This record gives sequence, structure tokens and C-alpha cells, in this order.
Amino acid sequence: MKAFVELFVSLGVQEYKNLIAHSLQVAKISRHLAQSLGLAHHPDQVYLAGLLHDVGLIFKASIENYEVFIDAFRNIPDLEKIVLALDRKNKHSFLSHTVASHLDFLNVDCTRALLYHHTSFDEISDEEGVALLANCIKAADTISLAFLRNAEIFSEATLKSMIQSVEKDTGLNQEVREAAIDSLKDVRVLLDLLGSETHFKSDAELSCANFEKAAKLVAALLDLRSPYTRIHTFSVARIAKQLTSELMTEIDRRFMGIAALLHDLGKITTPLEILHKRGSLNEIETIVMRTHVVMTEKILSKSGLQSFCKVSTSHHERLDGSGYPYGIDKSQINMYMRILQISDVFSALTEERPYRKAMSPSEALKVVEEQVNLGKLDGTVFEKLKQSIENGFNLETFSHVLEDIFGPDLTSLVLREIND
Ligand SMILES: [Fe+2]
Ligand SMILES: [Fe+2]
Ligand SMILES: [Fe+2]
Repeated sequence: MKAFVELFVSLGVQEYKNLIAHSLQVAKISRHLAQSLGLAHHPDQVYLAGLLHDVGLIFKASIENYEVFIDAFRNIPDLEKIVLALDRKNKHSFLSHTVASHLDFLNVDCTRALLYHHTSFDEISDEEGVALLANCIKAADTISLAFLRNAEIFSEATLKSMIQSVEKDTGLNQEVREAAIDSLKDVRVLLDLLGSETHFKSDAELSCANFEKAAKLVAALLDLRSPYTRIHTFSVARIAKQLTSELMTEIDRRFMGIAALLHDLGKITTPLEILHKRGSLNEIETIVMRTHVVMTEKILSKSGLQSFCKVSTSHHERLDGSGYPYGIDKSQINMYMRILQISDVFSALTEERPYRKAMSPSEALKVVEEQVNLGKLDGTVFEKLKQSIENGFNLETFSHVLEDIFGPDLTSLVLREIND
């Protein structure tokens, strides 16, 4: 669970900087308020609900209108405006709720609370525990937005405006409002709540299947940053798992699936100007682009995911030693790495890029074969890929990605809500 929180928070750069800072604050403040009110929900669960309360906004905005999404997320530090500009009908609460319900490790009450995080206490007809929790998230949201709006420097005016925004929020239950104001008047609590530390100390372990779901959510948020990468990570994971199931064991397949979902996480730091450049990259841009692997390594080790790190960060290495970042050669490149390298190259070729059209699977296979003949990529893995494609292996699609995130039953409803 802790690793998931770290991965999620690592997305807090570039366009997502304010949104993730806000999510983290809401996680900590909600947990604090729920505890001071003596609510029965497990603190970790409240924290996770707070952390995920706005993820729906990313899906809503990126899928519905990418141009507005990228503009608003990058330029408006005031998240309220993003909500108003992109989601006037408050669909993101439903989407966040659906995403959270599909993560099996979040309990029903905490996921239900997400439905009402913009609803006035009096209008919530759900049971009282859920209503109070939803209201804690609402108060946390109000506090965090007031802080982010003013917090270039934390001044008297910032604190005043935070207190006032809680006082003026007519949708808050009186007890929640009082607890919120108390927490704003306690310096130590205040600094903890608004700092950039995660303060998530839980030792709870996720099962492999649940961690895979969590990694999928993080990967989807990464991929949604750009229309060109919208299915990339899922596509790599899908192919890598298929190839691993043919060449290795079931346990290896599970391991590979997660390593593949994490492989490009560092790309969250790559500026969109580089990802979207129409021509070829100049020397400096190439270096910046290549640092994504090093950033992946940093994120994974900070998240305590060393076991995946070596494989995930080897996807641009080549058997002849010509790859990066370390230039290791075949003596150090194991089967997992070979599979990930081929899956990454093949997937990228079958996706559109700003400087070229998507290749058909057979065209992409030819390009991969050339790399195999040059001694860069593995021949055995390539043969398995070729067979799979010839046998009609289905490549990834965006609607399948959405099914993975929202669950197969709700995806069509989700798409309706997004486009409404
Ligand atoms: Fe929010
Ligand atoms: Fe990469
Ligand atoms: Fe990749």
C-alpha cells in the first residue's frame, strides 16, 4: 500500500503538480478530521479515499477534451477553476468513485464517500458514517484549495483565507467545520497537513493482484498525459505478459506484468514539448528524453520497489551494449529484460507518434526483426512475438484500458458520463 502511495505521489510533476499536491493534502487532512471526529473508518482507508478523490477529473478532462485538459492542468494553479471549467456537472465524483471501487483494497464506505465529496451534508442521503466521511473530504478539499490559491508564501492572509473558506462553506456539517478550524489553529498539525511528506506509515501489504490494479491506475494516469501514449504502457504490459507466459512460468508472468506497468513512469518528468515534437529531437532534447529511465529508477527505489527496478529500467538497453542508461550487454540482460525490450519497441512502433503514423503489426515486426539481425534484440523472444501476432493476438485498445481501470461492467456508463 505504501508503495502505491509513493508511486501515486511521484506523478506530482509537470501538468499534475498541483493536482497531486492537492490530493496528498486532502488525503492527510481527511484522515486527520475523520480521526478527530472519532469516525470508525480505518485511517489508511480514509487517506486513500482522500488521495483518490479527484482522479476522476483526469479521466474526464483528458478523454473529453485533451486541449482544454492540458491547458487547464498546466496553467491554472487554482484547482477549483479546473473543476468549474472541465466538469461543471460534477461527473468526476462518480468517476473517482468508480475507479476506487475497482481497486479491491478500498472498502465500500470509503469509496462511497467519494460520490459526495462536493455534496452538502444535508443533501447526502447515505448512512451517517459515509456522509460524515464525505464531508471530511469536502472540508479537506476546501482547506487545500484555499492554501494552494494563496500559498506562494505562507502568510497571515493565507491562514485567514483558509479559515474563512471553511467558515463560509455552507455544505459542511457543524462538527466537521469545527474540527477543520481547530486543525487550522494547531501549528504542528497544519504544517504536517500541508507539507509534501506523504505521512503514510501503513504496513498493510497488497496482494499481487491488487498491486497490479494499483499499478494500472498509476500507469493510466501517466499515459493520459499525452494522446500519443494513451495505451502505451498497457500495450507493453499486455505483450510482455503474453511473451512471458510462453517463455517462462506463471509467477514470472505476474512479475513481468507489473515490471512492464512501471517501466516508463519516469516519463512523467519529460516535458510535453519533447513528447509532442514533430521533428527529430536535438542533442539536448534526446538527453532529456533519455533521462526518463533514470527517473523511473529513482521513483521505483523511493517506492521500495527494488525488485522490479532492474527489469523496468532496462527497456532501452540493447544486447550489443548500445542501449542506455548503463550500456549493459547480453551477459547482464536476462530473459525478463529481453522480453520487455521487444515489447516496448514493438508497442511503440504500432502507436502513432507526432513524427510518424502508427505502423501495422507486420510492418512493426519487420523493424524489430532488423534490430534482432543487428544483434540488439533477442531472437527467441522475437520468434514468439511473431508467432503470437500471426496467431491473431489482440493488441491493446483504449477501451480495454478503460475496462481495466473502471471494470468491464461500468465502462460504457463511464464513457457516457464523460461525454455528457
Ligand atoms: Fe479536490
Ligand atoms: Fe521508455
Ligand atoms: Fe515505453
